[in-house]
Amino acid sequence: MNPRTIQIHDCEFSTYIFEEEIIARITMLAEQLDKDYAEKRPLFLAVLNGSFMFVADLLKRVSMPCEISFIRLASYQDMHSTGKVKEILGLNEDIEGRHVVVLEDIVDTGHTVHGLLQQLRERNPASVEVATLLMKPDCLQHPLDVKYVAREIPNDFVVGYGLDYNGLGRNLRDIYKIVP
Ligand code: IMP
Repeated sequence: MNPRTIQIHDCEFSTYIFEEEIIARITMLAEQLDKDYAEKRPLFLAVLNGSFMFVADLLKRVSMPCEISFIRLASYQDMHSTGKVKEILGLNEDIEGRHVVVLEDIVDTGHTVHGLLQQLRERNPASVEVATLLMKPDCLQHPLDVKYVAREIPNDFVVGYGLDYNGLGRNLRDIYKIVP
């Protein structure tokens, strides 16, 4: 596949993970979830906005009975995470006794997922796990156990396939990384 370079705001990005690889990895993740949650009727909690493409492609490939709900946390404005614990918006389901799987676009420092898991555990789910499209293990600042990771990446800022840079880039079908 031919590499492509694009400009978003003040930064240049080049193709990094092509759609074919993304879908292949998501397919493997879906098979794993199907196996692990076959009898559990999980509740998937998709964290908007960044997870929307990942969630659509993942859940089309999951075949066990499941529910999906969309939640929102405070928005992410720049290239660095703020580290604040963010309030959960839009969680209307009673998750007590449910098997919950959080669906995230990317785990960077882990602040977001760490804060989210703390708040979810207070509601007594039967279990709660995290499935993320991307993870930057070198950036992690919490001892997080992220069970389902489609793809690990180094500490580079990426856009595309749901991920944005200050509002732009979410619609790109491949993932691009910043050109230093
Ligand atoms: P964390 O709290 O540092 O783990 O950051 C999680 C959130 O930061 C993600 O849900 C994204 O919205 C955003 N984020 C982190 N790294 C990137 C990136 O490389 N590109 C776009 N957004 C990112």
